[in-house]
Amino acid sequence: MNQQQTETIAKIFITRGEEKQYRELEDLLATAQQGDSNLIDILHQAQNIFGYLPRRVQVRVAEKMEIPFSKVYSVVSFYSLFSTTKRGKYTIEVCTGTACYVKGSQDILDQINDELGIEPGQTSEDDRFTLQDTRCVGACGMAPVVIIGDDVHGRVKSEQVSELLSQYD
Ligand code: FES
Repeated sequence: MNQQQTETIAKIFITRGEEKQYRELEDLLATAQQGDSNLIDILHQAQNIFGYLPRRVQVRVAEKMEIPFSKVYSVVSFYSLFSTTKRGKYTIEVCTGTACYVKGSQDILDQINDELGIEPGQTSEDDRFTLQDTRCVGACGMAPVVIIGDDVHGRVKSEQVSELLSQYD
């Protein structure tokens, strides 16, 4: 890769306000072996830097490690620990397993949508929350269950959603 291409890539990150993360990524890739032997580890560290793995990061990793982009993309797609969408500071998991669904988890999802304007898989504009629906988390006796960050909230009513979210900033 020539100097001009490197500068073009740097500009892409800088125009997105990611100059600091870009420098960290370059430092990381400078120490990475070429080839895919430690690809998962590198992607994991890159995700820690950016919070997720957008296409531009995957492209840069592929170039620098001299791996086809398709290989990087397939690894990122295969492992659930990798995310290609921006993650919020907190993940909200609303259980939509049978017990929780029967007890109103859809109302909770609707209320979260009203409050934050996000559907499952999306992140709020202020980057505070990423919403996910999830299968039974094994706490059916507490249905409906909502997990925010590391906190498990049971018997949640949709009217409580606003107050619940306000506890996280
Ligand atoms: S169905 Fe929600 S915890 Fe089991």
